[in-house]
Amino acid sequence: MNNSSEEEKPLVLVTGGASGMGRAIVERLARDGWRVVMADYNGELAERETQVLRAAGLDVDYRAIDLTDEAAVRAMVQSLPPLAALVNNAGIFDERAFMDVSSADFRRMYEVNLLAVATLTQEAARKMADGARIVNIASRAYLGAKNHPHYVASKAALVGYTRASAMELAPRGILVNAIAPGLIDTPLPLALIHL
Ligand SMILES: NC(=O)c1ccc[n+]([C@@H]2O[C@H](COP(=O)([O-])OP(=O)(O)OC[C@H]3O[C@@H](n4cnc5c(N)ncnc54)[C@H](O)[C@@H]3O)[C@@H](O)[C@H]2O)c1
Repeated sequence: MNNSSEEEKPLVLVTGGASGMGRAIVERLARDGWRVVMADYNGELAERETQVLRAAGLDVDYRAIDLTDEAAVRAMVQSLPPLAALVNNAGIFDERAFMDVSSADFRRMYEVNLLAVATLTQEAARKMADGARIVNIASRAYLGAKNHPHYVASKAALVGYTRASAMELAPRGILVNAIAPGLIDTPLPLALIHL
């Protein structure tokens, strides 16, 4: 897709694009000829990384947003042209033995790792053209792991949601897939690495 004109460039929204894996996804897609918007809670970092990527000649923009704010998420997607792809990458992690996890811990984890994805997917799919793509970043932890049951459960739920949305969007040729990475060296799993 290199050498496309601005008008021809497909638009992709990458959540959590300011840091870690999301940042790498943003750069790779931009280098492959996509127009990329990163949506991230950390507006300062998103602005800085956007400037770095633009200085390298890449077509990148950002939105500072808390993805747990449903109204803000819907408004953001409505303000953008139709997406050719959506990468639901933003996620949070928390290290805590299962006896110590409160319902508030569970709720927060589900709000970011599952509900934000559902809102974004629904809103994006309204305007997406047939044949668009959605990729959800789950985790190998969905199979089960110690000391973060709420994270494990949120990612298992995300895998289920991915399958369910894939079935409903398939008639439009919109493919929904999940990726389940193992441990990747980013700011997110530092608590695990240093155990
Ligand atoms: N790093 C790993 O080992 C690993 C392994 C498997 C899966 N994952 C998953 O990969 C994804 C990216 O993880 P990472 O390691 O790059 O993490 P990271 O912490 O480096 O990046 C996550 C980004 O998401 C953003 N974010 C978090 N909550 C948000 C919210 N409410 N609204 C908007 N933005 C928000 C953060 O600001 C951050 O920029 C996550 O979904 C994570 O669960 C990570």
